[in-house]
Amino acid sequence: MKVAWFDTEEWEKEYLSGKNPNLEIEFFKESLNENNVEKAAGFDAVAVFVPSEINASVLEDLDADLVCCRSTGFDHVDLEKASEEDIDVCNVPAYGGTTVAEHAFGLILSLSRKIPEAVEKVEEGEFDHSGLRGFDLKGKTLGVVGTGTIGQNVIRIANGFDMDVIASDPYPKDGLEEELGFMYVSTEDLLKKADVVTLHCPLTDDNHHLLSREEFELMDGSLLVNTARGGLVDTEALIEALEKDNIQVAGLDVLEEECYVEDDIEVMGDLEEECDPKLILEDHILMNRDDVIITPHNAFNSIEAMQRIADTTIENVENRENTVN
Ligand code: NAI
Repeated sequence: MKVAWFDTEEWEKEYLSGKNPNLEIEFFKESLNENNVEKAAGFDAVAVFVPSEINASVLEDLDADLVCCRSTGFDHVDLEKASEEDIDVCNVPAYGGTTVAEHAFGLILSLSRKIPEAVEKVEEGEFDHSGLRGFDLKGKTLGVVGTGTIGQNVIRIANGFDMDVIASDPYPKDGLEEELGFMYVSTEDLLKKADVVTLHCPLTDDNHHLLSREEFELMDGSLLVNTARGGLVDTEALIEALEKDNIQVAGLDVLEEECYVEDDIEVMGDLEEECDPKLILEDHILMNRDDVIITPHNAFNSIEAMQRIADTTIENVENRENTVN
């Protein structure tokens, strides 16, 4: 079976070489779009990343009857047209369950032990402890909002730190409290009780600005981490909460307006959306604060997560798994 692998990164060539002798993979650095669809001529399947634009015109001209997205999102593929053309489209539904959880903990530890400030101090030639006293996680209460794949991995890690864990979820999972050793509470109670709050739920129509003025009022000097979606947090209200010490420090991998930063593969398809100048300004206010650390939507970005994507894509090509149309 011949596969055309577009949007290739150098490491993929070596990683995939000899992995499956039944597949003949040809690598293309460029993205696939209507201007270069002839490159895919004669292939049985194409594997693409989010910069490829698999529109109706590409699908009409494609020899392959299988498009494998090396991402969770598939907004860059015209699914309706693909079905019309009898082309299967598949995706990678899960790749970062532990990866994002580890990043969330990276942010928690960076804040609790003031690691970025400590590094900065040494780089400036200062080798003393002033202003760098942090706090232990052992015995503190962690509030996990969302107990899906990532939230559950965060709970497992927190257990290793001897933290007390509480969690909220509109769809609590039977038996999970006993299995992982935590307690479900309402989001309101979680915000009142947790020393550290970490968000791991999707952004939906119902939970936009899940944390806004009213919710921040419930918090008393908490550490907040958001690796989920920027829209879960009202940025203006967060700035006020930091001023009023309802939030002591925040670690954010996601911002409300991300049109100027690279996004994770799950949502890169949404990048075309209009940017809101007010939100961009507020994000910049956050970036300039000493009590906020920000990473550029990078929680998903580990070697192993990328390898899982490549592995799943190969399985998808071979077995037509994870089809989305
Ligand atoms: P999942 O679908 O396995 O779990 C989500 C959980 O959140 C479910 O248990 C659901 O019932 C719960 N939930 C829904 N609404 C809620 C609410 N209002 N309050 C509390 N819980 C709620 O999702 P998974 O894989 O754990 O991912 C969580 C989120 O992480 C994703 O939706 C995505 O936004 C984000 N993410 C961020 C990445 C990054 O690079 N920063 C990469 C991958 C995912």
